[in-house]
Amino acid sequence: MNKYLKMVLLILIASLILVGCSTDSPAEEPAEEELMELTLEELAEFDGKDGRKAYVAVDGVIYDFTDSNMWGQGEHNGYEAGQDLTEEIKGASPHGVSVLSRMPIVGRLIED
Ligand code: HEM
Repeated sequence: MNKYLKMVLLILIASLILVGCSTDSPAEEPAEEELMELTLEELAEFDGKDGRKAYVAVDGVIYDFTDSNMWGQGEHNGYEAGQDLTEEIKGASPHGVSVLSRMPIVGRLIED
């Protein structure tokens, strides 16, 4: 009986964990229709200064760096948010594009 009860409890807990973990879409990859489309000119407004969001484009994808401690006031090792920093992150940074997987995607860059 004790064994049976334990088994039932275990199944119950496992089911609760499974239900709790399942989501329809992962938070870090918003659906296509939720993504913004910004030109370079529009992107420039999101410079991370004075409470504005800090957005940076790399390879046509726009990332939100606002919540990163390393991008305070939209600045990071001499680089500024509100721009396309594809060349810079690939050519000048020690980390390369690997750090981008930690950043939320908010949109994509479009031509003027
Ligand atoms: C001389 C140039 C740069 C230096 C020395 C530098 C250095 C660093 C260091 C030491 C870190 C923390 C370690 C790590 O997360 O791997 C970091 C994180 C990061 N860097 Fe850079 N970086 C440079 C340029 C850039 C550029 C051009 C971008 C543009 C997209 C960039 C984006 C990021 C991001 C998104 C993170 C992760 C922030 C976080 O996790 O909150 N970095 N950088």
